Amino acid sequence: MSGKTMVTLVGFMGCGKTTVGAALAAALGVRAVDADRIIEEREGRSITRIFEEDGEGRFRDLERETVAELCSGEEPMVLCSGGGAVLDDGNIDNFKKAGPVVWLRATPESIWRRISEEGNRPVLKNGMTVENIAARLEARLPRYRKAADIIIDTDGKDPESIAGEIAKLIADRRQAAAR
Ligand code: S3P
Repeated sequence: MSGKTMVTLVGFMGCGKTTVGAALAAALGVRAVDADRIIEEREGRSITRIFEEDGEGRFRDLERETVAELCSGEEPMVLCSGGGAVLDDGNIDNFKKAGPVVWLRATPESIWRRISEEGNRPVLKNGMTVENIAARLEARLPRYRKAADIIIDTDGKDPESIAGEIAKLIADRRQAAAR
């Protein structure tokens, strides 16, 4: 990839941002960077502990700072955002300024299947049911729609084929822009 363009993956928890991000980064020859992992490394504690000890507001501040920093950097990368990063207009602006934003869309059932195995999602700690996920997803749909330049339906697809689909769409967009 040339220039400082990055690709940001957005989508609800458990839609596969991290696994698809790794496959897409490999396909594009850049690094995959997970905003949540950077926050955890810097804070020296897990996202769950940040929520428990300082509340969601503090986590969102850290998320905003991290997104702003990554998006203004020179390194081309695949940025895997946290599922709630799109709630903030400033984050969406930063993502869009840095390059295309890809929404990995998934059904509540497939999201539930993934995150019920993993468990560690503080936002859903009081109700990891398909109904709860569906309600939260529904409430956030306008935010994902606002952020997205490209929408990919992920159900029933493996991370490599999703990454291939995204890489092709990005290449097509670049060609069209260069014309
Ligand atoms: C959140 C999603 C999580 C993490 C935090 C809040 C959310 O990221 O940022 O627990 O509000 O949807 P993942 O989407 O990577 O699970």
